[in-house]
Amino acid sequence: MKIIVTGGAGFIGANFLQLLVPRFRQHQFINLDSLGYASNLASLEGIDDSPNYVFEKVDIAEHEAVDEAFARHRPDLVVHFAAESHVDRSIVGPREFIRTNIEGTFNLLEAARKYFASGSGLFHHVSTDEVYGSLGEVGSFTEESRYDPSSPYSASKAAGDHLVRAWSRTYGLPVKITNCSNNYGPRQFPEKLIPLMVLHALERKPLPVYGQGRNTRDWLYVDDHCEAIWAVIEKGRVGETYNVGGSFEARNIDIVRSICRVLAECTGCSEGELTDLITFVGDRPGHDLRYAIDSTRIRRECGWAPRETFESGLRKTIRWYLDNRSWVEQIRTRDYTGWIERNYGGRGDHRE
Ligand code: NAD
Ligand code: TYD
Repeated sequence: MKIIVTGGAGFIGANFLQLLVPRFRQHQFINLDSLGYASNLASLEGIDDSPNYVFEKVDIAEHEAVDEAFARHRPDLVVHFAAESHVDRSIVGPREFIRTNIEGTFNLLEAARKYFASGSGLFHHVSTDEVYGSLGEVGSFTEESRYDPSSPYSASKAAGDHLVRAWSRTYGLPVKITNCSNNYGPRQFPEKLIPLMVLHALERKPLPVYGQGRNTRDWLYVDDHCEAIWAVIEKGRVGETYNVGGSFEARNIDIVRSICRVLAECTGCSEGELTDLITFVGDRPGHDLRYAIDSTRIRRECGWAPRETFESGLRKTIRWYLDNRSWVEQIRTRDYTGWIERNYGGRGDHRE
């Protein structure tokens, strides 16, 4: 089988390829990525010289480039990860989100429609639980929850989901969609909560918690998400949507405290020295209060369940960042420092 993976130099795409390229030597994996700020080819070390793997620099928002790649590779399966993925960046500059997440998804759907042999092929769209908006104190998102996105990021992902369903209903394109909760793990760009806090704590920089830190997310270890996607590809129903979550809900402040505890244990420093760095800063506009996922459908139909607990996944993640400082340095030579200045500069802060 020929598999086009978009966004495979980013966090989840790279972890997906790290798991599956060695597992399925009989399949050919083609990684299409524009190598944007959140990508890192070093995330593919170990598989990048495999005979069943090839990388091509392609911007999915350029339809000729997408068409050309599809014409050449004639994929049987597309796993679409490529996206602008960071909520805070979408607030500061939404244009790229519309371009990649909506126009890019449209270009891929059109190319799949053109090049999949009639009645065959599968387009797997990787999406987020943020399309459902915010929950109150109770309840969880099911596949029937109403779309109600809050940020330019989640609105652009919601639009992508709608396009995928429309291409299925109108043109009969075989599609599947997964909507997953917050991921964490190795190779995540350090603008997201968990790697940002790990690296700031290591460098004794302030740990910026938005608002009161009461916002709650459902966390899933990245390998569990990748296995969920593969389980849906293999066992899920065509045209169907599957919600994926870790059934581990925590407030942001408790996540940051857990990071301080595990990091103190791993490095032998005092936990208090790290928790003293916690700094409450101005809130994110339109900040969703709570996400929680009901994964009953994928568990029942695809036999999937997460393997990691949050504690075991967090330990693996922290260990990875401690052992891979050169990966972090490669990322930081890009516009990372400028972004930190732009995002946190004007928020105002006070220590806990
Ligand atoms: P990421 O930002 O780490 O990686 C995205 C990758 O897409 C990067 O390598 C980037 O270069 C590439 N890309 C961006 N624009 C592109 C373009 N125009 N053409 C080609 N490539 C482009 O994101 P991630 O966290 O790995 O997320 C991957 C997917 O999973 C996204 O679709 C995201 O919406 C979804 N998702 C993420 C999470 C999460 O917690 N990270 C949770 C649920 C769903
Ligand atoms: P993030 O990792 O950006 O994921 P998402 O916005 O897609 O859920 O943020 C996770 C939570 O952490 C979210 O509620 C915002 C909060 N947060 C902070 O409190 N401080 C930070 O510096 C960042 C990046 C996020």
